[in-house]
Amino acid sequence: MKQLTVVDHPLVQEKLALLRDRRTPPPRFRELMEEMGTLLGYEALKGIRTKKTTVRTPLQDAPAVMTAQPLCFAAILRAGLGLLPGLLHIEPGASVGHIGLYRNEETLNPVRYYVRLPKNLKDCFVILCDPMLATGGSAVEAIHILKTDGAKNIALLTLISSKLGISRVHKEHPDVPIYTAGVDPVLNKNGYIVPGLGDAGDRLFAT
Ligand code: PRP
Ligand code: URA
Repeated sequence: MKQLTVVDHPLVQEKLALLRDRRTPPPRFRELMEEMGTLLGYEALKGIRTKKTTVRTPLQDAPAVMTAQPLCFAAILRAGLGLLPGLLHIEPGASVGHIGLYRNEETLNPVRYYVRLPKNLKDCFVILCDPMLATGGSAVEAIHILKTDGAKNIALLTLISSKLGISRVHKEHPDVPIYTAGVDPVLNKNGYIVPGLGDAGDRLFAT
């Protein structure tokens, strides 16, 4: 499907299995999410603008490719924070945006409580971190917030995406590619992805 990349690398799939496993305790869950930030981020960064250049090796000039766009990693609080360290590990110079949203437990609609974004968003390649794409409401709202602030190049990074969430993002923001480790079929009556991995924020922060 266009605009959807399911990263099927064995290491990513193994880490996804461990994240799903109910026996994985919060410290290990945190480590795994960080590692997924690096591995999924590596894929999502394929979309960044590049420029051709030349570097001088000890022997002679060599053609080279460099990134040519500032980077922003934006996390939807709380669970998106888990992917940030792994992204910053490969691109420590990126700026970081925070988007505070929580789901109303009855309506499942996202409620905004905090937004802090870098100033140069319109030039940036933005990776939006939302580990669980369930109804898609939070991701759609966060992308809207980023676009309202000028962002033009956005990729969405998730651990697990529901089919509903994917089609909602595709419908509302067809320009935004989704990078995910897994696609799950359904949501339960509380809006949780099934089989999913449970509440990502609670498992990450032991709440
Ligand atoms: C979770 C998760 C996503 C959102 C996805 O956040 O981290 O941001 O739900 O659901 P949606 O696709 O149906 O909008 P939650 O509201 O539980 O907040 P938390 O991360 O602070 O626990
Ligand atoms: N948020 C989560 O943390 N998990 C889900 O399955 C859905 C939303």
